[in-house]
Amino acid sequence: MRYRTLTQFLIERERAGRISPDLRLLIETIARACKAISTRVNKGPFGGGYGLAGSENVQGEIQKKLDVLSNEILLEANEWGGNLAALVSEEMEDPRPIPTHYPRGQYLLLFDPLDGSSNIDVNISVGTIFSVLRCPTAPDGTPHEPDEKAFLQPGRNQVAAGFAVYGPTTVLVVTVGDGAWGFTLDRETYTFALTHPDIRIPADTAEFAINASNMRRWEPPVKRYIDECLAGKDGPRGKDFNMRWVASMVADVYRVLSRGGIFMYPRDAKNREGRLRLMYEANPMAFIVEQAGGMATDGSRRILDIQPTSLHQRVGVVLGSKNEVERVAAYHAA
Ligand code: F6P
Repeated sequence: MRYRTLTQFLIERERAGRISPDLRLLIETIARACKAISTRVNKGPFGGGYGLAGSENVQGEIQKKLDVLSNEILLEANEWGGNLAALVSEEMEDPRPIPTHYPRGQYLLLFDPLDGSSNIDVNISVGTIFSVLRCPTAPDGTPHEPDEKAFLQPGRNQVAAGFAVYGPTTVLVVTVGDGAWGFTLDRETYTFALTHPDIRIPADTAEFAINASNMRRWEPPVKRYIDECLAGKDGPRGKDFNMRWVASMVADVYRVLSRGGIFMYPRDAKNREGRLRLMYEANPMAFIVEQAGGMATDGSRRILDIQPTSLHQRVGVVLGSKNEVERVAAYHAA
């Protein structure tokens, strides 16, 4: 079978007037960087990428060497292309405007270079998440200074988002606002091939994903929802549920996209704002999940409507199969 490549897919979108040439090139560049990260991740202990970097990121988390390396790969790949005004990542304190010796473009790029990196040493899937916004302009059309304020836009303003999973195969899921599309890296031709066109998440599911070690800290609506799933056939839901938790959001969300499910990292008594980052994790995943017919909330509010107040803010996340996410929202409302 001959698959369409990511390049063909993007050129078709450009010809249809859905995306600008600059956005096409930007997504191609990110995909190229993901291939490079995939190669580094695959090297395992060879090539000096394993272990701790001996530093902490802006959130006070210990950085792995591969976190730092992946961040550098994405920065270097994207800095000079002329499509961006600035970029920022989970690993950086402040946005980095494109250096003045390169042309400046109209887009802002946000990324989590290596999501789930605590899983690297145990050989479990990790990945890269990205989100693209337009740099705001003044009424006269002059571009806004690409500072932190320029980035603080609700997720519904995203013009593209995606994520890569470096697992048994490397897959890249992309949305430009007309569905969610999955590409698998063909290691013989080194191209991303469209293997999962127009992904749809089933509205119903019997599979949930949550870190159950936080149970004692959950809010009552979350506890109620999970208790009912656990009660299975004998409880109010009248059916048995299965549970999965990879602890790499990319892998958990990819499973939800593949066969349905609900993924939850809710706020709790310890993580009062939630644990996952709004701008680098929740927004891009929410965009993709909605494009695949699913739903994404912080328990009750639509993630994409949340007005960010800071770049690194955290948020509760409940996403996946529509009917289940709605049920959790209904429990919150009650
Ligand atoms: O935010 C990073 C992350 O690794 C996510 O990819 C994942 O869903 C979550 O943290 C795992 O958290 P925990 O270690 O609490 O299971």
